[in-house]
Amino acid sequence: MVPFSKRALVTGAFTLVLSVPAGGAFAMPALSDDGSSDGPQVRVSNSQTLADLAQSMRGEAFASASYRLYAKQARREGLPSVGRLFERTADVELGEHFKEEAALSGLVGSDAANLRDAVSGETYESQKMYPGFAQQARADGDSAAATRFSEIARDEGVHRGEFSTALHVVESGQGSVPAPSKVEEPTQVPAGPPKVQAQRTKANLDTAMHGEALAYAKYRLYAEHAENPAVARLFRGNAQVERREHFADEAKLAGLVGTTRSNLTKAISGERYESRTMYPTFAKRAKEAGDTGAATRFSHNAKDEARHAQAFQKALDRLS
Ligand SMILES: [Fe+2]
Ligand SMILES: [Fe+2]
Ligand SMILES: [Fe+2]
Ligand SMILES: [Fe+2]
Repeated sequence: MVPFSKRALVTGAFTLVLSVPAGGAFAMPALSDDGSSDGPQVRVSNSQTLADLAQSMRGEAFASASYRLYAKQARREGLPSVGRLFERTADVELGEHFKEEAALSGLVGSDAANLRDAVSGETYESQKMYPGFAQQARADGDSAAATRFSEIARDEGVHRGEFSTALHVVESGQGSVPAPSKVEEPTQVPAGPPKVQAQRTKANLDTAMHGEALAYAKYRLYAEHAENPAVARLFRGNAQVERREHFADEAKLAGLVGTTRSNLTKAISGERYESRTMYPTFAKRAKEAGDTGAATRFSHNAKDEARHAQAFQKALDRLS
């Protein structure tokens, strides 16, 4: 076997640990972060393709989580058909686009490899990212955001402990996997302006929301593929906390949700960017690199996103 070197692709707060050969091409089979062979099977060869997949997954996870909130807002405004359109689109982003890209990039490994990834993401969030964001928000006078960042840091610390214990159980065959954290009350996010002032807090909220949406999407997938039912429950339960509490709380602070008219406008511009610029660029690069599976997927997504933009545009026209 050719010698492998480790390459970590940071996707928001979480790291996709991928192994590519020294020299940068052909990564089959992939090794997990401890060098064992239970890691993901990467199905692309080029490091740029891997980076493009990571960026796409971040975008897909974020779009899906945002559309769920836009759907609820549409229903609040008495527009159930627009609500359904946002929900259906959210399902495509997560259940098809994110999932297929995750398969290409070899996101899912064994339970142990997935738990190690979760521990590493939760460690970063609880010990570095959120404490840093809280400190900056406090310095910038955004005290509500500072308080929430600190509380979320503590939640992530709890997740870290739960995933670490689960990892120990899976590896040693002893003890029991903890029950997941619970969503006490999902945060409602009605249309509203940002509740923070500083540009830096806004940028940090954007980073945090992308991290939460990605964590949700990953944990759902890890749960789906889990060999151990208790590990599946832990991933599924904590995924809910990431989306329905953390992502939602941050969306509220950031003023992510507007009126349905403005949510549709924002969605159209995101879909157009993906369909006209992002995915065609990624498809071209992947094709040139010989990653034909990824190139086909990127081109397919570009067409889907164009259809999403059209459907949203139609819904917007009907509101006028
Ligand atoms: Fe998509
Ligand atoms: Fe977490
Ligand atoms: Fe979280
Ligand atoms: Fe889309």
